[in-house]
Amino acid sequence: MTIKEAVTQGTQMLAASGHENARRDAQVLLIHTLAIDRSTLYAYPEREVTSEQAAHFFHLIERRKLDEPIAYLIGHREFYGHDFLVDKRVLIPRPETELLVEAALSAIRQKIAVGQIPVVADIGTGSGAIPITLALEEIRLSYLYACDISTDALQVARLNCQRHHVEERVRLLQGDLLAPLQEPVDILTANLPYVGTDEMEILTPEVKAYEPLQALFSGPQGLDLLRRFCQEAAQPGILNPHAVLLLEIGYAQREALSLLLRQLWPQAQLAYKKDYAGWDRMVQISL
Ligand SMILES: C[S@@+](CC[C@H](N)C(=O)[O-])C[C@H]1O[C@@H](n2cnc3c(N)ncnc32)[C@H](O)[C@@H]1O
Repeated sequence: MTIKEAVTQGTQMLAASGHENARRDAQVLLIHTLAIDRSTLYAYPEREVTSEQAAHFFHLIERRKLDEPIAYLIGHREFYGHDFLVDKRVLIPRPETELLVEAALSAIRQKIAVGQIPVVADIGTGSGAIPITLALEEIRLSYLYACDISTDALQVARLNCQRHHVEERVRLLQGDLLAPLQEPVDILTANLPYVGTDEMEILTPEVKAYEPLQALFSGPQGLDLLRRFCQEAAQPGILNPHAVLLLEIGYAQREALSLLLRQLWPQAQLAYKKDYAGWDRMVQISL
């Protein structure tokens, strides 16, 4: 079998099972199987695929037919221009979370500009995409904290720290929300679970069936963890004066969160940012 035949057959199998991006998915899975780049796939359509490679490729096609996300099948996903290992133990980093990274970098650089190296912590770190990206993009940060309740997720985060050579700078801590923190923080980032168990139907089958439930759901309206997180952050000794919090939020949570944030920090500046689809997706709280 040739590259061209494998792509054609894989595409037909995925299309027959109702997959929208059948050809793109088949190409990505073959590129992964053969460990080649996209240009080789196009340049050498007549190149032979061994029977072992073909068997592996069609095994992946079968899994994709059952909606397993491509990132889990190939074991990695790009985020903010960096490549992260992912598997079923962690949420696949989403493009909208890059907005949070951008805002965090800007807040970090404002502090550095006035002579302060901020203490940064990320809560609900999953694959480590947020703190590792911050460490890679801002080398003046000598260390950051990365916390998660899931020891499984932290194992993946550890692999990503090693992959990006930041294991000395990103300190992984296991525990519930802010409990693991070891000192007051200047910049706090969090992309915690914020999907409501009442709104399960908005998730695609591939998310619902494969991504860790502990990374997705947070009470009926998705607000339980965000509420508790904010209440904990407002306790004495957690944040330094003039701290900045950056939280990813659900599309319908702005009103409820604003009420809570106003009660906890009446003087704070709140700034909401929308995602690429126009939904409220992030709030920046500047104390
Ligand atoms: C939506 S995922 C985000 C992962 C990663 N930050 C990202 O943006 O790709 C949420 C993460 O929060 C973690 N989590 C859930 N409940 C938590 C808790 N009570 N304390 C700390 N982390 C928690 C989950 O294990 C999961 O890794």
